[in-house]
Amino acid sequence: MKLIEAKDYQGMSRKAANIISAQVILFPRSVLGLATGSTPLGIYRQLVDWYEKGDVDFGEIHSVNLDEYCGLSPENPQSYRYYMNQNFFGHVNIKPENTAVPNGMAEDFETECKKYDRHIAELGGIDLQLLGVGETGHIGFNEPDQSFDKMTHRAALREETIQANSRFFQSMEEVPRYALTMGIKAIMQAKKILLVVSGANKADILEKALFGPVTPGIPASILQLHPDVTVVADQDAMSAVH
Ligand code: F6R
Repeated sequence: MKLIEAKDYQGMSRKAANIISAQVILFPRSVLGLATGSTPLGIYRQLVDWYEKGDVDFGEIHSVNLDEYCGLSPENPQSYRYYMNQNFFGHVNIKPENTAVPNGMAEDFETECKKYDRHIAELGGIDLQLLGVGETGHIGFNEPDQSFDKMTHRAALREETIQANSRFFQSMEEVPRYALTMGIKAIMQAKKILLVVSGANKADILEKALFGPVTPGIPASILQLHPDVTVVADQDAMSAVH
């Protein structure tokens, strides 16, 4: 595992964007696994900036997103498809048909999840998976659990996660209670993983995930067993590691 410390959020975003753009420049047909949330916003801004300057080209890139809320349509501003269109896809030359986000409006979630896993397999797997981590240690919407063996599935959000995510909604009641998410097994099959972490509120969980026991009680701890993980964290997030 490579651990890269950045001074602040902007530094973290830039270093992480550098790793993604290196992947895209060296392997223009890569499959990128993408994440939403607050942490990657600066990365997407940086990548858009480099795209506009002509430094990076997404024309042959495929992407698959980690997760989507159940019951939110792509037009809903709180949906992850909307977030991706607004913050990234709409500003670079990735082909819309080459982007995939789980369909939170699917009538049959089980079929949708199987279809999503099949799609990733048909693409040849994920070359570089971008991840954030929640304060519960979740990656994607894989909350603390009994095992690590799930592929894409429907997950119930924990109360802490509903609370943390309510900042994006008008009220707690509006936060969906379920999401479709790539499972830990699916995430661990990515060839490379880039975990980005920012802020003092993530310091404890980052320390536990990287240096504590590997346990499904802290889903991100499984990353200790992945052969190619880079963690880019700012000083605040690293404060419990020193
Ligand atoms: C988002 C995702 C989540 C977030 C995590 C951290 O696609 O899968 O696991 O990465 O909740 O969110 P932020 O970055 O908002 O702190």
